[in-house]
Amino acid sequence: MPVNVFKERSFCVSADFSIDEKKYLFQKTKELKEAWYSDDRETLQRFRIDDMDYGVYEVFLEDSTRTRESFRNAAEFHGVKLSIFNSDSSSFNKQESYGDGFMTLAGYNNHVFIVRSKLEGVCRWLQIVGEKFAERNRLKRKPAFINAGDGKHEHPTQELLDEFTLIEDNNWSTDSLHIALVGDLFHGRTVHSKADGLQIFDKVKVDLIAPPELAMPKQYIDKMKENRFKVREFQSLEEYLAQPKADIAPRFYFTRPQLERMGDQILKRQDELREKITFKEKFIEKLPPNTFFYHPLPRHKEHPTIPTFLDPLPLNHWERQSINGMFIRIILLGAIAGKIGDDFTGKTVVKKEYTDDFIKDVRPDYSKPKAYKEGINPLSNGVVIDRFCRGESPEDIWDYLYKAMKIMSFKKFKGSIGVGESKNEQGVYKGLIFLPEYRDPAESDLKKLAAVTAGCTVNIVKENKVVRKLRLTVPPRIYKIEGIGCTNEACISHHSHSEHVPPEFIRKESGILECAFCSTPHRFKDIWR
Ligand code: NCD
Repeated sequence: MPVNVFKERSFCVSADFSIDEKKYLFQKTKELKEAWYSDDRETLQRFRIDDMDYGVYEVFLEDSTRTRESFRNAAEFHGVKLSIFNSDSSSFNKQESYGDGFMTLAGYNNHVFIVRSKLEGVCRWLQIVGEKFAERNRLKRKPAFINAGDGKHEHPTQELLDEFTLIEDNNWSTDSLHIALVGDLFHGRTVHSKADGLQIFDKVKVDLIAPPELAMPKQYIDKMKENRFKVREFQSLEEYLAQPKADIAPRFYFTRPQLERMGDQILKRQDELREKITFKEKFIEKLPPNTFFYHPLPRHKEHPTIPTFLDPLPLNHWERQSINGMFIRIILLGAIAGKIGDDFTGKTVVKKEYTDDFIKDVRPDYSKPKAYKEGINPLSNGVVIDRFCRGESPEDIWDYLYKAMKIMSFKKFKGSIGVGESKNEQGVYKGLIFLPEYRDPAESDLKKLAAVTAGCTVNIVKENKVVRKLRLTVPPRIYKIEGIGCTNEACISHHSHSEHVPPEFIRKESGILECAFCSTPHRFKDIWR
């Protein structure tokens, strides 16, 4: 029997499914839709989970119509046990943690949870907790968690239906896409999911249209560029549409200004900001032929960014986009239940292995002894940390030296710190830490040191000789270290939520550390609380 790669899978961020997996799900969605519209009952029946012991739980802790109702209708299509969580009268109001609350429900024969919350990364956390809970309690199935929108982080199932609709409108081709994303790109999670999601197309051009206050956060622009998208930025529709027609995207994805997430300062200026991202009648003639408009919806009833006079025009693809939401969610639930997926043969996502490549011996030949010469008194025994924050300003180096001494608890040792100029490069500064009492640092200390002082070298000195010289770079994964924490207050792992989520950071190619829950990027200096 082939293993069904979709069974019991959680879907927390767009990148949780590989391109092959998504293409497979889209193919199934296409087949389902065809059967639906041709009323082919026999084929439809083959898609149904049809098991009243399979539990689907909707937990919406933020408002929703489309996502909640399309999932509810999808669950009803499947003939499963559907529960809707009542958040107003739940024990979350009695200070129960998310972990405890959800595991209680998982214990009552519920298998997939559809979760919307303002806490970012909540599904990733529940996935981890759920795995252990299922093991401890020998549950028949590991609970799966579907992110139905977490704060301003991601909305991966919306991304699935958006991609499906774009591909459907592209004659089922995934060769290339040129799309303009318009509106509140700062708070809109549906557009954030596009930074990874649109990789389903081979060539991608993205034009971002938003005033600076609502601009796409840098982390997602960086991600788009890493994913080799061509990205351009514009501050208003007016500016964008002043270009020659050939440069204008034939696909526009509008979003709503998310007033509920804005601070007072921006709210005061909402009219002026909305003006820059609202489509006007006079713009129609500037659009290239066969332009289609999309919107995750809802539209604001008074101030829609796609005004209602456009509804009857062929530009309107947002209605079918919304209808597709139910079909894609039927397929997703079917796949997670293991009903669909046995015939999948493509590539799945590779689970990352984290190697210890961040501690490197840099002096291959220790037979030629070298004394450590820097400092007032050359050190005869202990540890010298060199190249600390090399290249930064003396002021920044001093600041971070004090911080690092505290984080590493080096203050308990005798020693000295200093800032010096590099011998080889004038004007390049670096910090130095001398610790004569610190002997033979343990591997765990080195791991922590690497996380604190990435890029430095550690010289272990014995009887006036450097017996080991190590170069430390940022570890590929930083976790299980006292004192680290995500800076995003909306993150499930942020200490203020008391969910006891152990913070974790993943090193990206650029050296940036991404929170494993909410994806917020950090410099290595910023992960210390
Ligand atoms: C979006 C959401 O909730 O992120 N809507 C949706 O799921 N269809 C966009 C929005 O609320 O503006």
